[in-house]
Amino acid sequence: MTDVTATDAPATADAATDSLTVRDNRTGQSYDIAITDNTIKAADLGQIRLDEGPGLATYDPGFVNTASCRSSVTFIDGEEGILEYRGYPIEQLAEKSNFLEVAYLLIHGALPSKAEYDAWVHEITYHTFVHENVKSFTEGFRYDAHPMGMLMASTGALSTFYPDARNINDVENRHLQIVRMIAKMPTLGAWSFRHTQGKPFVYPDNDLSYTANFLSMLFKMSEQRFEADERLVKALDVLFILHADHEQNASTNAVRSVGSTQVDPYSAVSAGVGALFGPLHGGANEAVLRMLRRIGTTSEIPAFIEGVKDGNEKLMGFGHRVYKNYDPRARIIKKAAEDVFEVTGTNPLLDIALELEKIALEDEYFIKRKLYPNVDFYSGLIYEAFQFPPEMFTVLFAIGRTPGWLAQWLELVQDKEQKIARPKQIYTGDRTLDFVPASERWA
Ligand code: SDX
Repeated sequence: MTDVTATDAPATADAATDSLTVRDNRTGQSYDIAITDNTIKAADLGQIRLDEGPGLATYDPGFVNTASCRSSVTFIDGEEGILEYRGYPIEQLAEKSNFLEVAYLLIHGALPSKAEYDAWVHEITYHTFVHENVKSFTEGFRYDAHPMGMLMASTGALSTFYPDARNINDVENRHLQIVRMIAKMPTLGAWSFRHTQGKPFVYPDNDLSYTANFLSMLFKMSEQRFEADERLVKALDVLFILHADHEQNASTNAVRSVGSTQVDPYSAVSAGVGALFGPLHGGANEAVLRMLRRIGTTSEIPAFIEGVKDGNEKLMGFGHRVYKNYDPRARIIKKAAEDVFEVTGTNPLLDIALELEKIALEDEYFIKRKLYPNVDFYSGLIYEAFQFPPEMFTVLFAIGRTPGWLAQWLELVQDKEQKIARPKQIYTGDRTLDFVPASERWA
């Protein structure tokens, strides 16, 4: 039932306050459309039509001004630079929590008790192994395959090892798949990395914390146990927290869109990995590092900025659909960088990044477009300090974002308002052409 009343009477000023009165000048008819949560239902526009023609629809490429769902997972205020997971400010979570506790918060909607936390960590720890066949097909990729391509494929492939994941309406089953995916993404990411390095795969070490185990699977060689510097473990754990969710970004939208067909969560998250791979989204952290290397020295920054203004370059790591102020995550990452560089020594590209940010923030071109550093601008500098190659940066983003994708997927499958994602289009092609068979066309 829609909230639209088509009235012949002229719109009156005393229409319900939470409504919009629109007049269709083609027919002279006015309509009162309900406003709820500062939105109108696009479906309500369908009543506005000419005679028997189709009703009105909305046109919104990139969904710049369209809400696709109700969600209580993440809140962002782009003007104020606010980011909260389940109501908790990101600054407090980054400083006082850890990634698995934040993952619990995102998935369950509340912070865990000690017993709940211990059970959660135990479950995740003992699901880090993957089927041995994963090793075989990971070894099947080319030596120079991009780790994000391998992660997208191996995440989707997990759906073939766990066919019961298709039973998405079973609460226990959903929980088991969520635990498996959060637990196994570091293993899949680490094994993709080891494959590109031509090194043997390292199995999970269940005596290590989640993030320390990930570093072990990445960098362990012949030593009995890989001992990561605790400051680096902490910095990476903070980065995972900062990447854990971000409301309806492109990759989450992909997870929700694919998930809306009621496919298993591995297939839905695999679509999210694919979306994140793009340089306008999670792939930006890799693109930032390549951009800084290409600029090379601070003296080359003015020429590069001119290239951006001429439209020949994009200032990767800058700009955001929602943040029209500093991305709060970028501020925290910039601080985490200092902690990492204490251990690894500073990254010479940091000077270029700091000077680039300084110049951009003072330049009218960027100020007018409200372009500020986003989460990807500084994160790559930290990852490089960890000795990660740029191709691995987005894999790190994906591992952090997995609990967020799954929290959003969980919300989707329980949301009675949700339907299969199938937008309309504005058709611009030909109509009713008479087909001429090839034999005649080519005669
Ligand atoms: C992430 O959505 C999320 O939440 C994503 C994310 C998450 O956690 O999931 O936050 C992670 O993806 C961060 C963004 C990483 N991407 C980049 O750093 C790539 C560079 N940035 C852009 O391509 C761009 O800013 C986007 C894609 C991030 C946002 O694009 P929008 O919102 O569609 O904005 P737009 O492209 O319409 O830009 C508005 C104007 C345009 O200029 P005009 O045409 O009006 O003259 O700003 C310009 C753009 O050309 N512009 C840039 C720019 N970003 C926008 N110009 C130069 N350099 C840039 N980086």
